[in-house]
Order: sequence, then structure tokens, then C-alpha cells
Amino acid sequence: MTTNYAGLQSVIWREDRLDLLDQRLLPEEIVYLPLLTAEDVWEAIRHLKVRGAPAIGISAAYGVVLGSRNEQSLDTWLAEAIKQAEYLATSRPTAVNLFWALDRMKAAAADFAANGLSLEESKAALLSEAFAIQSEDEETNRMIGEHALSLFKDDMGVLTHCNAGGLATAKYGTALAPFYLALERGITLRVFADETRPVLQGARLTAFELQQAGVDVTLICDNMAGMIMAKGWVDAVIVGTDRVAANGDVANKIGTYSVAVLAKAHGIPFYVASPLSTIDLNTPTGSEIPIEERSAEEITEGFGKRTAPQGIKVYNPAFDVTPNEYVTAIITEKGIVEAPYDVNLRKLFES
Ligand code: MRU
Repeated sequence: MTTNYAGLQSVIWREDRLDLLDQRLLPEEIVYLPLLTAEDVWEAIRHLKVRGAPAIGISAAYGVVLGSRNEQSLDTWLAEAIKQAEYLATSRPTAVNLFWALDRMKAAAADFAANGLSLEESKAALLSEAFAIQSEDEETNRMIGEHALSLFKDDMGVLTHCNAGGLATAKYGTALAPFYLALERGITLRVFADETRPVLQGARLTAFELQQAGVDVTLICDNMAGMIMAKGWVDAVIVGTDRVAANGDVANKIGTYSVAVLAKAHGIPFYVASPLSTIDLNTPTGSEIPIEERSAEEITEGFGKRTAPQGIKVYNPAFDVTPNEYVTAIITEKGIVEAPYDVNLRKLFES
């Protein structure tokens, strides 16, 4: 399948450095940050310069390359690659793609070192592994887009939350991939983008990338979703995810759970777009998913303007968990999975 998708690429390897699109500055400024060390990558992930589960994993994979490239012997190179992977794993806790990509890089490094590759060959092969993680994500997202589009019909209204688009992945996005395919095939979908408090990934990123592409997108505040559902404007919801537990509970950006409950109350299907790299069979249920808490300032003085009293108590979880009973289907690169999730998600990894 070819597509006309021409969105901004958030992660670019350039010969001897990693360029990351600084997503904190969007939509006003398009700035690529040149990163040279694993510490630079850790800091970029922690501070949301790069964000979105797959993009975090891809960036961290390149971070392992950067962090181990100065070693002068095969033994110290392998030890350093593993050490840097473990360090990068401390950057954010919720998106399992981070740990998935880092485990893959550690296993690849150990494999190259054990199989007689020289130091320089091992370094080159590790970079190729990071490239593979990035290019496989692109292909995965195209497949997710194809499967998701089969659920949508011309003129449907579809609501999304946060940003699970090209900016959050290697290309196309997960939840946003069907919108790009629809556009190319002349299928009109009316997309509603929740602004997504407190960091506004919906307003700054989803609205931006869909508008750039020419998708019919309308921005709403998070607290308007129920009202437009009641009006009959929303035929389906589709969101991305940071981690799907073995029982089909889904962690995603804070506010996703409220959208799922509203969708159920209005009889609207609630779809989750998830690559297999986001499904974590080692986490039995959503209650075991670590939920990141972020700084109070994101709520009290987001974007430089104080909007709450000094000294106010704040609770700022970055993600919530939607229980599986609210999830109509999980759309993966291998197809559409419905309940019972504990059985059907496992099957995806068997074939
Ligand atoms: O805090 P963020 O911006 O990294 O949160 C991102 C999300 O919640 C996305 O929906 C999720 O990572 C899926 S991206 C394909």
C-alpha cells in the first residue's frame, strides 16, 4: 500500500546523532533537537520533548546506540549497552513500548557479542536494530489503519483523545492511521479531537497533524465530549494506548476512562488501537500498570500562566486505566480483537 502521508517525522537518525522534533513547542514552532548522548535522550523522554508510546521506544533504542558507541572493547560495549538501556528505562514508567524496545536492544547486543561479531560490526548491527524497530512500527501502523478503517463508514463522526498520531510513532500513528487512509480513499470522517488537559496533546498535536493533512477535524475541550455524544455527533471513539494488560484493561492518557464511560452510556463503540508492542501479557490487569504522576505545575501554571492559587494541593496522574468491559475492540496489526481479552490477546502471540 502506498500513501500520500507527509506528516512531520518525530524521530530521525542522522549519521552520528539523533534528531528529535521538540513536541513541547508544537504547533507554533518546528524545532529538531540534535541529541548526542543517552542522557540527552533520557531528558527528552522525561520532559515530553518526545512522547507517545512507540516514539518513546524508538528514541530509547537510539539512546542505547548513543550511550554505548564510545566503548573500545566488545566486553565493555556490551556492559555499557545494557547499563544505558537500564538507565533509559527509568525515564517514564507507563508506556510498555519503552521497556519492550530496550529489552529488544539488550537481547540484540548480547546476541551480536556472543556470535563472533567484531566491536565495530556489533555497533553497526545495534544501530540496524534501532532502525528495524522504527521501520517495523511504520508498517505496523499501516496495518492498524487498514483494520481500523474497516470499522468506519463514510460521514461518521469519530472522537479521539490525546495524540496517537504520526507524531507519537514512526509514521501514521495508531488511532489516527485510519483517518489518513480514509482521506486518501475519499472516505469522509469527521474527527473530534479532545484538547486533552493538562498538556494539550489533543489541541497542540492531534489537531495540528490532522489539520495539516487536510482531515476534517474539530477541536473540543475534554468536558464537551458528553454533550456532543448526546447530540449524536459521535459514531465511534478511537484512542491509542500506553499499555494493554493481559486481561484487556487499557492504560492511556488521563481522561480516556471518562470518554469510555461516556461512550458506553451513549451506546457508542470504544476502540483502542494498539500494536503488539504495547500489549503486556506480563501485567495481568490494569491495577498492576504503573501510572506516572507528573508535576503540579502542569496544572497550576501550564504554558507559563498561573491559573490556580499558590500552595494548592494538586493530583496529576498522566494516565488512567479503562477496564476491559468498556473496550469494544482492540485493533492490532494482526487484526481486530474482541472479548474475552484474556484468551484472545494471548492468541495474537501464538501465531
Ligand atoms: O504523555 P504522552 O503524551 O506520552 O501520552 C501519550 C498517550 O497517551 C498516547 O495515547 C499513547 O502513548 C499512544 S501513542 C500511539
